[in-house]
Amino acid sequence: MTQLNETRDTLKIVVVGHVDHGKSTVIGRLLYDTDSLPEGTVNKVKKIAKETGKPFEYAYLLDAFEEEQKQGITIDTTQLQFRTKKRDYVIIDAPGHKEFLKNMISGAANAEAGFLIIDAKEGVQEQSKRHAYILSLLGIKKVYVVLNKMDLVDYSQEIYETIKKEMTEFLADLKVYPIDYIPVSAYFGENILHPSEKLKWFKGNSFVGAMDAIETEKGLEDKPLRFPIQDVYKFDDRRIIAGRIESGRIKVGDKITIYPEGKKTTVKSIAYWAERDKKDVAVAGESTGIIVEDEFFNKRGEVIAFEEDKPSISNSFRANVFWMGKNDLVKNKKYKIKLSSQEVEGEIEEIIGIVDSSSLDSKVNSGKIKQNDVAEVIITTNEDVVFDKFADSHVTGRFVIVDGYDVAGGGIIVDAEERRELKELQTFTFETLKARGDIFEEFYYNVEEFSIDQYKDFNKSYTVGDEIPISGESYKYPESFDVLVLRDKVAIKIRNKIITEIITLDQYGFTGYPLTNGRGFAIQAFTQPEFEKFMKEYSKTDERREVEFLNQWVKFDTYRRVIFHNNFWDI
Ligand code: GTP
Ligand code: MG
Repeated sequence: MTQLNETRDTLKIVVVGHVDHGKSTVIGRLLYDTDSLPEGTVNKVKKIAKETGKPFEYAYLLDAFEEEQKQGITIDTTQLQFRTKKRDYVIIDAPGHKEFLKNMISGAANAEAGFLIIDAKEGVQEQSKRHAYILSLLGIKKVYVVLNKMDLVDYSQEIYETIKKEMTEFLADLKVYPIDYIPVSAYFGENILHPSEKLKWFKGNSFVGAMDAIETEKGLEDKPLRFPIQDVYKFDDRRIIAGRIESGRIKVGDKITIYPEGKKTTVKSIAYWAERDKKDVAVAGESTGIIVEDEFFNKRGEVIAFEEDKPSISNSFRANVFWMGKNDLVKNKKYKIKLSSQEVEGEIEEIIGIVDSSSLDSKVNSGKIKQNDVAEVIITTNEDVVFDKFADSHVTGRFVIVDGYDVAGGGIIVDAEERRELKELQTFTFETLKARGDIFEEFYYNVEEFSIDQYKDFNKSYTVGDEIPISGESYKYPESFDVLVLRDKVAIKIRNKIITEIITLDQYGFTGYPLTNGRGFAIQAFTQPEFEKFMKEYSKTDERREVEFLNQWVKFDTYRRVIFHNNFWDI
């Protein structure tokens, strides 16, 4: 069976496409036609199919093949190795775009070329477009579109041309220009290894011919050094800084800088296990360990580079993100951002624009990024990150967004932004007191989605002496009232539109003025005893009883209403 050979060229390719369009069959057929399968596999799989009364599927070969490979070396189960006469391949069957995106970012599946499979009979589907989008997002420029199941459309050139036209137009908007469109029938092995008699009108390469024609990327070694630290190991009295060199080269004696802090030191040696492995230089693509002169406290997430070609260091950047999460991607919520070996907490600070990833139509900027949306955003993190523009360096220019425990999105960095304070979303501040006040939140009825959307302008912060806007599009408060921000245990007194006092809830006593909670909902406590009862019940309320509590004490429509809006906060 095939083993990767160090001296031969290796190309990593990924196969993507809508469910059932034939990704696994194409790969199974490739393995079969190139004789990459271990002896007896095909017969074994055929026999099992027959015994279980199912028709034989080339896709089954993948499972058998993976089993076999796993016994050899440890590899990601979605990656298969095989070879043609020309070179070795690692082929990635992307089980879903989430896994694919995750693997791409972590570097486990750093594919250089992509094959997008489209069922000729079903034509271009939403997923086809979304996968194309992800390829472009990840900077995979070497793309082939494969029109599979040509047998189901009588190998029709007309259908081929129609799909080609549609896809070309879509891809042009993404600035993806496929090398070619390859018609095949994976199931019948037409135009996989050899040109097909049934596709005489097609003058291009067969699938394997197209793969072999891809030129591998050279020159990563000549790019600026990027060496993200994965770990620091202590052996005896030595500390070994380990990681993978993503670009450039590093050699003994080099004066290096460790970012984000900018610590300077010199490479003393490159770690080796056996004397014969001893070397003075390590290059892009290698996982290695170095020992440096000065033993600072180094840690995972830092990036080693040369000062003359240093990466960007900031806690803010502009990025294009692709969102796959079930929950919307929203502003002012904390997410985990993973970028090379760094892991930080960050927020979407600004949403510049939103696009539907299958139609590529701009959407109304509702302040929420929904599943399968693509958006241009500004992300701000709670500590400095070391990165590059994606256009300059793929590995240090892309990241994933983790929502809870799930990778829910990925993105590429368009540009660095000035370092900025992560805005604390406090509307009211006074001395050490801070309170979130959502009383200026607007409520809109979204006619398209039959739902209520909120919008709030967080840019303002108010303190004692400030005049507040007591009316907005969807709210109108009295000129004098008190706001009880229960979550933050702060009370705010407003008299004749002016904030006169910001105090702790403990210091607050009933005043007889109208009361709202932090969202501007009227509190139904109009007398001293009612107020005391309200406070007492609040102190006993937990999550389970919250709704009951709100229904009893809080009224939405005293000062607020929901209004219709057609051009959502296009501001
Ligand atoms: P998922 O992994 O579920 O996303 O599907 P997939 O894209 O890997 O598709 P798969 O290879 O499992 O193929 C789906 C079905 O299409 C299977 O029943 C295949 O036999 C069938 N199929 C694949 N290629 C061809 C083809 O060239 N012609 C015909 N007629 N059927 C095909
Ligand atoms: Mg499959």
